[in-house]
Amino acid sequence: MGTATRQVQSRLSGETNFTVPPDEVVFGQSEAMRIVRQKLEKVAGANIPVLLQGESGTGKEIIAKLIHRRSPWETGPFVKVNCPAIPGTLVESELFGYEKGAFTGANGTKPGRVEMAQNGTLFLDEIAELEMGLQAKLLQLLQDGQFCPIGAQEDKRIDVRVVCATNRNLEEEIDQGSFRQDLYYRINVVNIQLPSLRERTTDIPYIADFLRQAYSEKFNRPTQALSARRLDMMQRYHWPGNIRELENMMKRFVILGSEDAIAIDLSSGNANSSSFLPDVPVNGSISLKKVTRQATREFEKKIILKTLQTHNWNRKRAASALNISYRALLYKLKEAGVPGRKVSEPRN
Ligand SMILES: Nc1ncnc2c1ncn2[C@@H]1O[C@H](COP(=O)(O)OP(=O)(O)OP(=O)(O)O)[C@@H](O)[C@H]1O
Ligand SMILES: [Mg+2]
Repeated sequence: MGTATRQVQSRLSGETNFTVPPDEVVFGQSEAMRIVRQKLEKVAGANIPVLLQGESGTGKEIIAKLIHRRSPWETGPFVKVNCPAIPGTLVESELFGYEKGAFTGANGTKPGRVEMAQNGTLFLDEIAELEMGLQAKLLQLLQDGQFCPIGAQEDKRIDVRVVCATNRNLEEEIDQGSFRQDLYYRINVVNIQLPSLRERTTDIPYIADFLRQAYSEKFNRPTQALSARRLDMMQRYHWPGNIRELENMMKRFVILGSEDAIAIDLSSGNANSSSFLPDVPVNGSISLKKVTRQATREFEKKIILKTLQTHNWNRKRAASALNISYRALLYKLKEAGVPGRKVSEPRN
């Protein structure tokens, strides 16, 4: 088994003792990532919280793992908490643990993830999803290094490095009253902003090639390097799903075995592509008014779909990003015959 395969397999299996792509692939050659690398190297060694911000699929988790790897606590655990994935009522016990008899069914003492991260890194993913009550408990942890398991008589002390990630704008969340400002200051001692893939187009060929080779080995399907023309199209594409989208595209390319399999994705959202032109006969008689209306509707539909994809098909957030009301978005979706969630959308 090749190194690339091992790297991808361990990533896909969700191990905590992971391997990540080599530095040349993670950071590439772009200026945007050079800044990320520089910051990462400076902060990794100090026990201060780091906040990773960036669109969905930009590699926040990989950077969190690298921070752990390059810290003095690298031999300790890396514990990830995916805040939205834990059902609301269980978040507190998952995070902070409980003592015997804390509630019906608590037959023994169970350590939470915070405690499991002792002498290592606690990675809180999608921190904006944490409800206010738990934000207060997290604040105490960051302020005093202490927390109280459910039903415990005394606080526990812990030595842990906290890394948080979000694809939301926390300042907006503070304005809306859903995120504590004091907690924001605590987690945001150092902020690393991950660039979107469209802001690091020079890196696209390296990442694409790494993923192509890795999946070729994993699925045992030999592939040829992507053509210069295809790479050029990829560098002009807008990548709403960032590296995750590129990864899915490379999987599709490897399995289906042809560049044509990815051509449609690339042309559908490419501002330079002729797919922007509505399908009208230009040699006969046409109604400019009608064509313009049709083009506007198609354009609007594409923008709405892109925005929905960027916001994980959350219609409320998409409506707010588009500066239209939720009702208006529902109406437009209905008019365009688009379901709220695209069923075929690959989700990791
Ligand atoms: N530089 C890279 N080279 C190859 N694969 C990468 C790179 N960066 C990220 N990936 C892969 O892309 C996918 C998305 O990365 P990751 O999960 O770290 O992003 P994220 O910012 O946490 O996304 P989300 O906000 O959706 O959780 C993962 O499968 C990851 O392994
Ligand atoms: Mg993530």
